[in-house]
Amino acid sequence: MKRRKFLSLMGSAAVAGSLLLTGCSGGDSDHRKIIRIGHVQSANHPDHIALTAFADYINEKLGDKYKVEVYPSELLGSQTEMTQLTQTGAIDFVVASNAIMETFSSQYQIFNLPYLFSSEEAYHAAMDDPEVTDPIFLATEKAGLVAVTWLDAGTRNFYTVKTPINQPSDLKGLKIRVQQSPTNVEMMRLLGGTATPMGFGDVYTALQAGILDGAENNELALTDNGHGDICKYYSYDMHQMVPDLVIANYEFLSNLDSEERAIFDEGFKIINETERAAWADAVAEAKDKAENEMGVNFLYPDTAPFQEAMAPLHDEVLEANPELQPIYDRIQEYNAEYAAN
Ligand code: GCU
Repeated sequence: MKRRKFLSLMGSAAVAGSLLLTGCSGGDSDHRKIIRIGHVQSANHPDHIALTAFADYINEKLGDKYKVEVYPSELLGSQTEMTQLTQTGAIDFVVASNAIMETFSSQYQIFNLPYLFSSEEAYHAAMDDPEVTDPIFLATEKAGLVAVTWLDAGTRNFYTVKTPINQPSDLKGLKIRVQQSPTNVEMMRLLGGTATPMGFGDVYTALQAGILDGAENNELALTDNGHGDICKYYSYDMHQMVPDLVIANYEFLSNLDSEERAIFDEGFKIINETERAAWADAVAEAKDKAENEMGVNFLYPDTAPFQEAMAPLHDEVLEANPELQPIYDRIQEYNAEYAAN
């Protein structure tokens, strides 16, 4: 059942309430705490496969005390709603795009910068370096949230219903859905398009209704989310590599004893490794299906004019958050080491 239907039946406050009331699994002999993880992707998506591996691992190691349940497809709400539920402890984990985490701390803006990484290798190396990620991932501790690992969400590109995007000026006047992040809105302003921020689950209907002219995302959005039914041009301008983050309720994590915490940390590693191992094949499959079954045209524009148009965002974000400078500089070292080929 899709989120909208579920929420209209329950009301999001009621959902939160019912989750709190059923914090334990119920039956007289079953005192396990239920750990709920919500995410927006389908049950075929690498994120879901990785979270299922985590659930299996925790259930195997700590099954007498915990029972992990994974809820895909926005069943527990939109990404922002689920992050709020994680903040209050109504659920324990959510997979949130780094983009929406800007609402919780401006520190996260750094990983939303267009063309931040020079290559996929630089992106992966930087995201695997705690010197880069810790200051950001722990920035929301006081708000009750902490990021425990990252997931590859590929490269984001523009895709449109009717207008092929070959250069930034092709975006002029087009209504493009972006994630709910000030950096993304500014990105569209610099490109001359009109940013329409909305939750992921609302995009299909908005495209279908003609409220949007296009959106931007990785290739899986075309197939897994059906956007390729409507959008027939996917343009590799390669503007962002925005990671997904596994966000935990801080109090839940802090209350684990050291033995349990070690097991959870191993579980977080399993999420990261499983998802990354599945990602490249998932993208190749999605591209093949979009191109050959859905009739989506893939375009390969010169990325330089896009990069130039969005470049001012780097200085804007660094000026507003000077504490990000050392992290930004460290990322540049990875960019030099793993330059684009
Ligand atoms: C990707 C990403 C999601 C995000 C979505 C979006 O699918 O993995 O975390 O919600 O993009 O554009 O909203």
